[in-house]
Amino acid sequence: MDIKGALYLAKTTLLKSASDGVLRETRIVLSDILKKDLSFILLNYDYELTQSEEKIFFEFLNRRKTGEPLQYILNEAYFYGREFYVDSRVLVPRKETELSLEYVIDKVKKENLTDVLELGAGSGAFSISLGLETDANIRACDISKAALEVCKINQKKFSSKCKFFESDLFSGIKGKFDLIYSNPPYIKSKDIENLQIEVKDFEPRLALDGGSDGLHFYRKIIANAKKYLKDVGYLVFEIGFDQARDVENLLLKEDFKNIEVLQDYSGKDRIISGKRI
Ligand SMILES: C[S@@+](CC[C@H](N)C(=O)[O-])C[C@H]1O[C@@H](n2cnc3c(N)ncnc32)[C@H](O)[C@@H]1O
Repeated sequence: MDIKGALYLAKTTLLKSASDGVLRETRIVLSDILKKDLSFILLNYDYELTQSEEKIFFEFLNRRKTGEPLQYILNEAYFYGREFYVDSRVLVPRKETELSLEYVIDKVKKENLTDVLELGAGSGAFSISLGLETDANIRACDISKAALEVCKINQKKFSSKCKFFESDLFSGIKGKFDLIYSNPPYIKSKDIENLQIEVKDFEPRLALDGGSDGLHFYRKIIANAKKYLKDVGYLVFEIGFDQARDVENLLLKEDFKNIEVLQDYSGKDRIISGKRI
């Protein structure tokens, strides 16, 4: 089978299960299997795959047609220009989260913030990237031991100085921070079944389920955050597109000031922050 044949096969096999860009992702997979860059794939459609390359390609097709995310199959996800290790123990870091990262980088740099805490680290991509882009001391926790194992893989990969540890939200946290960030699980429990297969059947439920109204974690974090913020400090969240008003009300109730809501690339509310003054 040549590259052209492989692309045709992927198109016909994956049309139903792969949600977007079948050809684009198949070229990425072929480039990974053949250990060549994408331009080689685009310019050499008549290249014949060896037997072992073909075998790996069929394994990919079989996994991908079940809806398994490409990032889990390749064990890699790009975040803020870096390739992180991922597998089914963690949420695949999302493009939108890069905006939250940029927002936090900006705050840390402009206001010389030194101590940052992330609640719900997942793959560690956010905290590791923040650590590589700023001089802040970063601590990041997750309730999932499995996710923390992935954090450790990425910590080693990037020689990161972030400290990762197990904690149920603030239960294991000591000290005070200039900024607390979280992208908590925020999908309403009843909506999880309506998500695309890649998400609902493969990503950890623990990373998705935000309780009956999706606000469970915002409520808990906002109610306790002040004890863990310095006299002046920020609480920053990633939010679902329809949660800004509710989360803003929770922040106001706890007396957070200077509330900012920012939109993502498609104009949807995505980041909210409040300041403890
Ligand atoms: C939406 S994911 C975000 C992961 C990562 N920060 C990212 O943006 O890719 C939420 C994370 O919160 C973690 N989590 C869920 N409940 C938690 C709790 N009670 N305490 C700490 N972390 C929790 C999950 O294991 C998951 O890794």
